[in-house]
Amino acid sequence: MNRQACDALDAADPLASLREQFELPEGVIYLDGNSLGVLPRAAAERVQQVVRDEWGRGLIRSWNSAGWIDLPQRVGDKIGLLIGAAADEVVVADSTSVNLFKVLSAALDLQRADAPQRSVIVSERQNFPTDLYIAESLARERDLELRLVDADEITAQLDDQLAVLMLTHVNYRSGRMHDMAALTRRAHEAGALVVWDLAHSAGAVPVDLNAAEADFAVGCGYKYLNGGPGAPAFAWAHARHTARMDREQMWQPLAGWLGHAAPFEFTSPYRPAPGMARFICGTPPVISMAALECGVDTVLAASPFGGMAALREKSLALTELFIRLVEQRCADQGLTLQTPQEAGLRGSQVSFAREDGGYAIMQALIARGVIGDFRAPDILRFGFTPLYTRFIDVWDAVEHLRQVLESGEWREARFNQRAAVT
Ligand SMILES: Cc1ncc(COP(=O)(O)O)c(C=O)c1O
Repeated sequence: MNRQACDALDAADPLASLREQFELPEGVIYLDGNSLGVLPRAAAERVQQVVRDEWGRGLIRSWNSAGWIDLPQRVGDKIGLLIGAAADEVVVADSTSVNLFKVLSAALDLQRADAPQRSVIVSERQNFPTDLYIAESLARERDLELRLVDADEITAQLDDQLAVLMLTHVNYRSGRMHDMAALTRRAHEAGALVVWDLAHSAGAVPVDLNAAEADFAVGCGYKYLNGGPGAPAFAWAHARHTARMDREQMWQPLAGWLGHAAPFEFTSPYRPAPGMARFICGTPPVISMAALECGVDTVLAASPFGGMAALREKSLALTELFIRLVEQRCADQGLTLQTPQEAGLRGSQVSFAREDGGYAIMQALIARGVIGDFRAPDILRFGFTPLYTRFIDVWDAVEHLRQVLESGEWREARFNQRAAVT
């Protein structure tokens, strides 16, 4: 493999034109779409329009005339197309953390009603901290046990004590992907429910929540969905659970006015809206929702080219190439691959651990225009969004990494000063 061969791969790439949807700064190789997706050109326009016309001229009328009030469901339905959810099964609201609180509470309520002796929440020790903090807070509140295990110990935890298995589908550190359908099936056989965090999956890998018979899911708008900084998140529940919540008039814990069955009647007591709408709490952030809709549209734009399956094929080719090139060209530089080599186990990112200097190496790369990120204590993380990442970018990024490591330039003091966000 050489640089020309990467050029040839780009020339033959059926998804290449999708990159034109994005405002990519000159001279930047962006390998951090797993943290914050790139600005879609349409979003800059659309946000202007929402601000200038819908807010500026339409004012309060725009809740009806511009359909602001329907945004949680409208954008939710579009995300649903990417994760195997049916219409009306996804709502966009709040952050991933807040949505996780809501759906994990709902799952625990269902289990408390059916099997009150089940008192354990199991998750992965290496799960993203916010997931673990939310589970910890619920475990404290309800006097449950939160049990954290390694990935290969999960199946041993599927017993009659387990209430909810709460997992992130693709691990934020290693990029390792769980088999959603198989784990869900085994958890169900053991009588447990499963909550999936799709933060690193939605828009990154094919997901089919209904085919997997999953119970609840949440996910993030600002990563592979390109929704912009702080974009709202989404929540999903299987229709069997929302139907039961309807029948039994079950709440989620953050019962706010826009999750009420009739918010504009302004009545008490609280009566949950039917279906997923009960998972909405307060007023949607309209401007952010508008930007998120444009972001989701950039992923849906792949549909005529084969959709998520085609994106997945390219993503695997990109990550495979990156792994291979780093191993060839940066051998003996103390980098240890953290991401599974096996395609079926890999999300859309590649991580390398390095005993020392990881943060500074990433800073030196960023100074050269190759943007990835660092996750303490030792992970260099590179995300590959197939919508806008080219094979030539992979080649060039590895060449920069080689130069940074071989020259030792990362040792310079300026690369060793920790910023607040890494
Ligand atoms: C797995 C996972 N869950 C949740 C979040 C963030 O959640 P929030 O939207 O609450 O910031 C992240 C952020 O990187 C994440 O990686």
